[in-house]
Amino acid sequence: MQRIVVSGRGALAGEVRISGAKNAVLPILCATLLADGPVEIDNVPHLHDVVTTVRLLEGLGATVTHDIAAGRVVVDPRTVDSHVAPYELVRTMRASVLVLGPLLARHGAADVSLPGGCAIGSRPVDMHIRALEALGATITVEHGFIKASAGRLQGGRIVFDTISVGATENALMAATLADGETTIDNAAQEPEIVDLAACLVAMGADISGAGSSRIVVRGVPRLHGGRHAVIADRIETGTFLVAAAMTGGRVTATHARPNSLSAVIAKLEDAGAEVLVDGDRITVDMHGQRSRAVNVTTAPHPGFPTDMQAQLMAMNCIADGVAMIDETIFENRFMHVNELMRLGADIQIDGPRATVTGVARLSGAPVMATDLRASASLVLAGLVADGDTVIDRIYHLDRGYEHLERKLSALGATIRREG
Ligand code: UD1
Repeated sequence: MQRIVVSGRGALAGEVRISGAKNAVLPILCATLLADGPVEIDNVPHLHDVVTTVRLLEGLGATVTHDIAAGRVVVDPRTVDSHVAPYELVRTMRASVLVLGPLLARHGAADVSLPGGCAIGSRPVDMHIRALEALGATITVEHGFIKASAGRLQGGRIVFDTISVGATENALMAATLADGETTIDNAAQEPEIVDLAACLVAMGADISGAGSSRIVVRGVPRLHGGRHAVIADRIETGTFLVAAAMTGGRVTATHARPNSLSAVIAKLEDAGAEVLVDGDRITVDMHGQRSRAVNVTTAPHPGFPTDMQAQLMAMNCIADGVAMIDETIFENRFMHVNELMRLGADIQIDGPRATVTGVARLSGAPVMATDLRASASLVLAGLVADGDTVIDRIYHLDRGYEHLERKLSALGATIRREG
């Protein structure tokens, strides 16, 4: 099994080009199923989750061309002849559940295995199911499968009890081909929802309000092929900016989307970093200083993203002071804590709150990646730990970070992949 070895200590410096957003490209690839012509997606990052989604689409019968070097995927959904998303694929990637809405809307049926994905809490799909039922679908869950059927979906009113990114996306995609108008209230407002809506509009959908808590979709009889470039990955951006701050360095993220990162940038400034924004470039300069401890409470967008919680915790591990980290989105999303403690971090967990007391230095050790963002936090901690940090189970990292070790090396980190 492959491992990453990080040999710590040394400020990062330089420029890093940000890739397309994992959490935007996955729903967008699923959305291509709604079209009746080829859809070209650009700025596609080379990630394991993208490869899994391509396999999922091919398994449904779609004709997919994936040009990895060009970062382009073209999906021709006209050859789709199956509506079954099998366990083998869905269990490795929860986002597979995003084919549910498109298959149902376009083909009147979808059988999707109950998802797996990162082991961060129970992560049910009840909100996806209720949203599609509100549009007229009949859904049962049996033998580990969500079995959905419908004639043409009917526009309706969906009011989410809590905010779910995935359920908002499934509802949004399904509503584009429904008969009449759909209102989605308490919708997720993440930039990836806005990007999905932009892609759907490029395919002929009629959507307003994406990025606010109320999305209105006026159904159209068909969606056509089209072309869309995926937005920059705000979590990858944030991860590099935190890496810069932790190491006392100066790093510029290019091809980024600064306005999708306001909450993260505010925390970096609280930690003592100078942050400069210039168009699509964000520079963090820590001027060689140790960061200050910063409290973090995760929240739906525009709040602080749960996908940056582990990285901020890593930064707090070596910051000056005591920080409280409250995780409000997922239960069980502190699996990186035990691993960070193996590196010498001082962290106490009390339910959804972690209290991190900064220590002067961490010391390298073998650790195990447990989920995608937890893995990133271990790499960051390795950058500031004395000696070698050996991170096992790095397939989690490959699900969501494009060329992580190559990009970090270019910034001066000593990092390599083994095995
Ligand atoms: C997406 C992101 C993930 C991010 C998360 C929160 C993708 C591919 N993944 O995941 O990186 O961490 O948003 O920003 O975009 N819930 C239910 N019932 C449901 C659906 C969700 O109870 O039917 C709960 C979840 O267990 C969780 C909360 O709602 O506690 C938020 O989850 P959700 O926003 O749906 O996350 P994902 O879309 O799975």
